Amino acid sequence: MSNVAVVPGSFDPITLGHIDVIERASGIFDEVHVVVVHNPDKHALIPIAHRVDLIHSSLAERGLADANIVVNSWSVGLLVDYVTDVGATAIVKGIRSQVDVAYETPMAIVNRNLAGVETIFLLPDPAHAHVSSSLVRQVSALGGDVAPYVPAVVAEFLKHTTD
Ligand code: PNS
Repeated sequence: MSNVAVVPGSFDPITLGHIDVIERASGIFDEVHVVVVHNPDKHALIPIAHRVDLIHSSLAERGLADANIVVNSWSVGLLVDYVTDVGATAIVKGIRSQVDVAYETPMAIVNRNLAGVETIFLLPDPAHAHVSSSLVRQVSALGGDVAPYVPAVVAEFLKHTTD
């Protein structure tokens, strides 16, 4: 039986911190599904289909195109429905700080209550511990350089989006 994990998120846009978590999860699990999920609590910058495209391009840029990674989106219903549909054994999330612990803990408990799905937390590479999509969006919107925080394809995309 193969062990499948789901790495969900808004990925608006994908950052080097996300890539770090995805790459490490792909070394632990037989297959990893990176799933762009609509988060109604957040005002999105990038359409979901384009976020999926940027993840594909970012994985290719990092030499992960041929890895055991599937990229998908999910906007109808609960995340655990996707997780059980693909036969995944766990959700994998990155935890950068106590703020993330407070944000992620209720979701992990609810997902386990809903469908018995466990959430596994990976600590980030310290190089990425301060990187977030919202910070990237803000820096980019105000004309700053986001190249240290995101794959080059994303930096290029944001340059044209926020021009
Ligand atoms: O990157 P984000 O925005 O922090 O990701 C949060 C996300 C989208 C993974 C989370 O909001 C989610 O799982 N939404 C799907 C709806 C759902 O299943 N809600 C109930 C359990 S949290």
